[in-house]
Amino acid sequence: MDVYPSAAKLLSHHRPERPVLALRPHTVARAAAWFLANFPGRVLYAAKANDAPPIIDALADAGIRAFDVASLVEIERVAGVEDAELYFMNPIKSRGAISRAYREFGVRRFAFDSDEELDKVLDETNGADDLTLYLRIACPNTHSLIPLEGKYGASQEEAPALLLKAHQCAMRLGITFHVGSQAVVPAAFGEVLRQVGQLIVSSGVLVDAVDIGGGFPARYPHADPPALESFMEEIVRAADELAVKHSCELLCEPGRALVAEAESVIVRVDARRGDTLYINDGAFGSLFDAAYSGFRFPARLVTPGKESAEPDTAFALYGPTCDSSDYLPGPFVLPACVGEGDYLEIGQVGAYGRVLANRFNGFGTFDEVVLTDEPMLPMFAPGGDESSDTAWPARA
Ligand SMILES: Cc1ncc(COP(=O)(O)O)c(C=O)c1O
Repeated sequence: MDVYPSAAKLLSHHRPERPVLALRPHTVARAAAWFLANFPGRVLYAAKANDAPPIIDALADAGIRAFDVASLVEIERVAGVEDAELYFMNPIKSRGAISRAYREFGVRRFAFDSDEELDKVLDETNGADDLTLYLRIACPNTHSLIPLEGKYGASQEEAPALLLKAHQCAMRLGITFHVGSQAVVPAAFGEVLRQVGQLIVSSGVLVDAVDIGGGFPARYPHADPPALESFMEEIVRAADELAVKHSCELLCEPGRALVAEAESVIVRVDARRGDTLYINDGAFGSLFDAAYSGFRFPARLVTPGKESAEPDTAFALYGPTCDSSDYLPGPFVLPACVGEGDYLEIGQVGAYGRVLANRFNGFGTFDEVVLTDEPMLPMFAPGGDESSDTAWPARA
């Protein structure tokens, strides 16, 4: 993959026809180092956030080799990582996927949230005695910008019996939950960890692992949450109250926070109508969340020679498909001079960007490059490593 020092440098060599996904793998290394140094347990990467090979490679090189996977395709994408540990945490899986995961890919860790799913996992692994089973519990997602509740999770009433049943057949037993994506209040984790503590006491089952899921926030113009450190402090405090704190492994499964800043998309303006720009990527491409989740991504003009123009005008964007819901209200603040033929860099699209793109209207394909400059809203200190104890000092 071609490497450039910045988007403007790339554009001084090429005028790409397709939108360009610009990867910054160096930011993944920093984010991984921060999590490994600051989370008091095992750090898994939720491959669903971005399973591009350079991202997976950068995580593995930085020391993250455990993956939360949701499907056989994700398993195949990460199975090549040396010593990969795979956690099949989708609470509802097909029988075929369970069987192939167990037999072909050596997966031994599975989530379930019902009697039926537990039976399915046991059936398809032939009653294996080497499984780690994670009971996914339902929990409130009130502190997250993308709630995931309602679909999965055993209720407080169902959970004790399911734990007891799984205890009979699992080699190791865990509890897992998800507070919702882009959780912006540290208490989100503490509240559910206390719920986990009550479940352990009420069921009388001493679990071996508590997996607190993903949900750690990234920085966006519309949501600049408290430092990740305060999330870790809350988690440590709440985990310390668990009855099983001395014997229990803690795990987390961040997706977004590890990779949000690792990609920008460089788009071309194909038309301007008033303060609305028509660009060549959009809601059905890497910018789904800007259309459907109320996200605002940082944007800047990167046409060579025009980069220093003052950003002073609020624009809305339309993507390239003929669907009028392909609309990104923003606002995206850009120089007033932006017009047809210009290029924009839209940042922080590394999480749930490329993985949500589809081929609607024939769009949704990208060129790819590596950029070595800093992301638009960096969260982790440049040069950050295990000794780094400061999250997000580098405000853009
Ligand atoms: C089971 C599970 N773990 C982890 C994640 C990652 O969440 P996030 O990207 O918010 O960190 C998700 C996201 O949907 C998930 O479903």
